[in-house]
Amino acid sequence: MSDRQVTTDINLALEALRAGQLVAIPTETVYGLGADARNDEAVRKIFAAKGRPADHPLIVHIGDAAQMKDWALTVSPAAQLLADALWPGPLTLLLQRHASVSDVVTGGRPTIGLRVPDHSLTLALLVAFGGGVAAPSANRFGKVSPTTAAHVVADLGEAVDLVLDGGPCRVGVESTIVDLSGEVPEVLRLGGISLDQIAEVLGEMPRVRVAAEPSDRGAKAPGMLESHYAPDAKIIVVDESAAIETLIDALANADGPVGLLSPAAMICLPEGIVELEPAGIASEYASVLYSRLRQADRLGITTLVVIPPSSVGIGAAVCDRLQRAASNR
Ligand code: TXA
Ligand code: MG
Repeated sequence: MSDRQVTTDINLALEALRAGQLVAIPTETVYGLGADARNDEAVRKIFAAKGRPADHPLIVHIGDAAQMKDWALTVSPAAQLLADALWPGPLTLLLQRHASVSDVVTGGRPTIGLRVPDHSLTLALLVAFGGGVAAPSANRFGKVSPTTAAHVVADLGEAVDLVLDGGPCRVGVESTIVDLSGEVPEVLRLGGISLDQIAEVLGEMPRVRVAAEPSDRGAKAPGMLESHYAPDAKIIVVDESAAIETLIDALANADGPVGLLSPAAMICLPEGIVELEPAGIASEYASVLYSRLRQADRLGITTLVVIPPSSVGIGAAVCDRLQRAASNR
């Protein structure tokens, strides 16, 4: 990909979407690989570019909550409440799909995932476009999600026609997915909106049904089953109290450089540890998590010992991604 294909000009992005091309879009969570959700041929290109199985449904990004009715059969009171309170924002709502929605977007499922992202450039693009933009995270299937335009270019290269550069993603982990298509709301993926924020809107804690293990066949969000969020380095998640012992053990057994990622700088580290820049408290940790994992790979780190942030609020999503990265090898 040439520099010419990275732009901040939404008019170029608009033309490309209308022409059925692939446009990487910035959001507050991660970059998405977008195409016109009403154009099957364009949407098929997303699956080809990512190497993603065709039965994995895509989230449709819209510019305004009023467009929910174009994609969903009915907009339940809970859906309206959540959309009014938390959109634009890192929340995806699963609703029964409208008959006009293509199987290519939903992977043949009866539901559709919808979200109004909180990023000024992409919101302006979506409003000007008027339709929906289907977009998974703009990484190759199973890899770490991109949080900068440069990550997208590094992952997808020529497979994407245009990258809309909106700077580094503010939140840094993907949206929280709430399934509202059944009897009771169920959270299928932890993300940028916390369970407490959802409970505050709905008046009760939602049920949580995130796939615990890659082998959890009961999981309802198929993307959560695969080896996701995984860098090349082996990830070992430990409490701070066990970190030094784990690092010493890793140094003795690793077949390459051993790294450390932690919320704050640590004293008395064993010699030879590659200490990544501390990730900070949970919200800061979320915003740098994926770039730190990419950095570990760039530095050739083969074992990365990770001390997670507190699991409160968005920290729960960070801990979830770290557990997946650790278990998926
Ligand atoms: O923050 C985000 O959600 C980002 C940005 C780009 O919006 N998007 C994102 O998309 O993370 P993706 O495709 O990488 O992850 C979406 C997850 C997948 O696991 C997919 O299977 C699930 O949501 N999903 C989407 N629509 C669904 C549906 N109708 N039923 C069940 N799962 C669905
Ligand atoms: Mg993804």
